Amino acid sequence: MTTTLSVIGVGYLGAVHAAAMAELGHDVIGLDIDAERISALQAGIPPFHEPGFEQILRRGLDSGRLRFTTDYADLAHAEVHFLGLGTPQRADGFGADLSHLDAAVASLAQVLPARGGAPTLVVGKSTVPAGTARVLAERLAPVEGADLLWNPEFLREGFAVQDTLDPDRLVYGVHEPETPAAERAVAMLDRVYARILEREAPRLVMGYEAAELVKASANAFLATKISFINAVSEMCEATGADVTDVARAIGMDDRIGSKFLRAGVGFGGGCLPKDIRAFMASAEQHGVGEALGFLREVDAVNERRRTRVVELAGEMLGDLTDRRITVLGAAFKPDSDDTRDSPALDVACRLRAAGAQVTVTDPQALDNAGRRLGGLVELEPDTDEALRGTELTVLLTEWDQYRELDPVRTASLVEAPRMIDGRNVLTPQVWREAGWEIRSLGRASTPNGPRPTAPGTEPAPARTGRIDAPAAPARNRLQPV
Ligand code: UDX
Repeated sequence: MTTTLSVIGVGYLGAVHAAAMAELGHDVIGLDIDAERISALQAGIPPFHEPGFEQILRRGLDSGRLRFTTDYADLAHAEVHFLGLGTPQRADGFGADLSHLDAAVASLAQVLPARGGAPTLVVGKSTVPAGTARVLAERLAPVEGADLLWNPEFLREGFAVQDTLDPDRLVYGVHEPETPAAERAVAMLDRVYARILEREAPRLVMGYEAAELVKASANAFLATKISFINAVSEMCEATGADVTDVARAIGMDDRIGSKFLRAGVGFGGGCLPKDIRAFMASAEQHGVGEALGFLREVDAVNERRRTRVVELAGEMLGDLTDRRITVLGAAFKPDSDDTRDSPALDVACRLRAAGAQVTVTDPQALDNAGRRLGGLVELEPDTDEALRGTELTVLLTEWDQYRELDPVRTASLVEAPRMIDGRNVLTPQVWREAGWEIRSLGRASTPNGPRPTAPGTEPAPARTGRIDAPAAPARNRLQPV
């Protein structure tokens, strides 16, 4: 059944959601206050790189089921309104900035009375601190017929279309489960998602706060998992172990699972970093800051991996002043042109700050990188050109074309065959055999031993395949099984 619906805020999440809803057969109008973005979308031009998005955008526009506007008055007759506004980190702290969401709800409340009390559903999709939905519901309470439901979005960039049309689960947060109002809201959203529910996607109904916490906890868990393996990575560097061996073996325990155990330069992007900080800030506000204190360490481990890459560059080149370094990758992850909190760009800036002449290359993200970095580093779209004459290559975003680089051919381009693999995607032995000095995060710097011990510390244990435990009563020693 076709529903007339709106999507307010057509950033990454909202634009994909709007096109996906048109794909499901609904009449969709997307709204944003950014007129440039609206004209681009209306012309079928995706404002970001996302596989499959352009096709569903154009299909929606061509079918007449999808259009875009900057005017709230155009939304007045929609039965369902999705809120896809961004909730960035506040300029003055760790908390989430809810000003876009507040402004959108205020504008929407002005036009809702045009429905004359007919049932109207407002559906929040943004990532918000627990308690936000209840406050917004109070603001909408005076509008006759309007209900609010919180339906967090779990989409990953690079898989956004698939994650929207074929999600792992649908979470519905309601004012009070099992009341007639909640059942009415749930039934309305079920109609919108009917084709998704037919595919047997699990649908979970819960209170507002639980739905808000599902999203915050999911992202915090993922960030923690990445930082966990990156912390182990530091231990691997200290002991001469290979973190990819450790990750592979622990990931085979299906209670742990192998996903999100890729050690490297850590997480970035528009979600995980800001969401763990907002989660901590929210916990503080609710008086349980200590409970989420470990997320500070998750953030710190993530930060240290970036520092470690710069340290490795120093270990390989000595003084970095005027040394030529090429950074492979600008996006925070492959298949995206998003450079928000990108580890690759952050490391490029740090190398530049240490005096190096840095060239950054990326197949999709150089426009965004340029906007973020200004003229700080050189941007070169062609990989070969970027590599020509460089003294150190640093792989920081694992695009396929960088994973698949041929070490022999690449050696013929560079000035010196030195590589830092910040994502553990190259096979060190193959590169060493081709004459490269290669260092990785969480892997021994040479095939035969741990990285050199820092001055003033105990010598690192020899790589005997066994770690000597510190002196401890025999009964506490781990016995081989
Ligand atoms: C994330 C969540 O996955 C998604 O569910 C949520 O809705 C939004 O935030 P996204 O930001 O698109 O999605 O990126 P994701 O694929 O989760 O990767 C985040 C970062 O972690 C990237 O920088 C990636 O390179 C890094 N990462 C991921 C690792 O360093 N190691 C891993 O094993 C996995």
